[in-house]
Amino acid sequence: MDKTEKVKRIMVTGAAGFVGSSMSERQLELGHNVHGIDNFITGSQSNIQRLNKHPGFHFDQIDINNQDDLHRVLKEQYDEIYHFACPTGVPNISVYGEEMLRTCSQGTENVLRVAQQHKASLVYASSAEVYGDPEVFPQREDYFGNVDPVGERSTYEEGKRFGETLVKLYAQKYKVNAKFVRIFNSYGPNMSRSDTRIIPNSLAKVIAKKPLTIFGNGEQTRTHLHVSDLLNGLEIVMDKGENATPYNVGSNKRMSINQLVKTLSQIVGRELPVQYKEHFIEDHGGREPDVSAIMRLGWRMNTDLKTGLTAMCREYGIDVKTAPAKTLSSPPVWPSHNIHELPA
Ligand SMILES: NC(=O)c1ccc[n+]([C@@H]2O[C@H](COP(=O)([O-])OP(=O)(O)OC[C@H]3O[C@@H](n4cnc5c(N)ncnc54)[C@H](O)[C@@H]3O)[C@@H](O)[C@H]2O)c1
Repeated sequence: MDKTEKVKRIMVTGAAGFVGSSMSERQLELGHNVHGIDNFITGSQSNIQRLNKHPGFHFDQIDINNQDDLHRVLKEQYDEIYHFACPTGVPNISVYGEEMLRTCSQGTENVLRVAQQHKASLVYASSAEVYGDPEVFPQREDYFGNVDPVGERSTYEEGKRFGETLVKLYAQKYKVNAKFVRIFNSYGPNMSRSDTRIIPNSLAKVIAKKPLTIFGNGEQTRTHLHVSDLLNGLEIVMDKGENATPYNVGSNKRMSINQLVKTLSQIVGRELPVQYKEHFIEDHGGREPDVSAIMRLGWRMNTDLKTGLTAMCREYGIDVKTAPAKTLSSPPVWPSHNIHELPA
């Protein structure tokens, strides 16, 4: 950090999770102080153990839905708040539906009140899921989406939509410097080894020498953004984004799940066996962000899928056959994982 630059005091909710721990690590490496908060509902202790090695990191295990607990642990004035806390994972929709709804509503309002009291800037992690099962490609921020309010995924989708509305209300009514980002599928180090999302789940299967699981016929499309590019996007929106204005952040390289597996097969140098299963929940046909709004703020995607996936395979201890197309632009620190932590 430049000596003239101020050391910031940053709150990160969801600090034990994939994105929250990566953002905490980045801010600590920049020389800022980070107060991490998490209740471990979907986060992992190993992420906090790694962050605890930094002297500028302080952690409290609390549930943000409990306002008294949140106020009890507050530190001196925060400059910025990255609000990531929310249970994630498609299989968890049926398990943690109430927690998703409560964290996006009560929890988000509690965190917005802290931003209001501390005059801190806040970025809320919303999701591409606010578009539901989109009928318009690519999805621009002014597309209202195609969401069933009582559909199988509604606790997460409607939770995130409600969270955005709260952010907008606090920005407009209470003049909080509050922004939000609609995150499309992202991947990278610090994902839990038991994470059910397609990339970490597939890597776990490669290590376990088991067939990869694809739900449906694999022709559904997604985009995949490396976490270093996601963090850049979140920081840019924190610094330059308009309050209460949605910004998509994601890769605009749409591909089917079958194509993703093909790319992974090329990286490991052999055809990976696949087991197709009927989806356990209604699935979305495709997703693709229009990223022109965040690009106008100066954001660019720097890490292509092959490069990011190759780096992640190496980090997981998987033998790769291809050299990365280029080096990562601003790589987060690869954590050292114990592969025995992998699910069977
Ligand atoms: N990773 C992605 O591809 C992606 C895509 C879209 C949106 N998002 C959003 O970004 C955020 C971070 O996602 P992630 O991938 O890191 O998920 P994650 O599950 O790894 O992290 C979320 C963290 O929030 C914590 N948490 C949940 N409810 C809490 C509560 N009430 N109090 C305190 N802590 C709580 C969890 O324990 C977990 O550590 C989430 O809000 C998610 O909805 C992520």
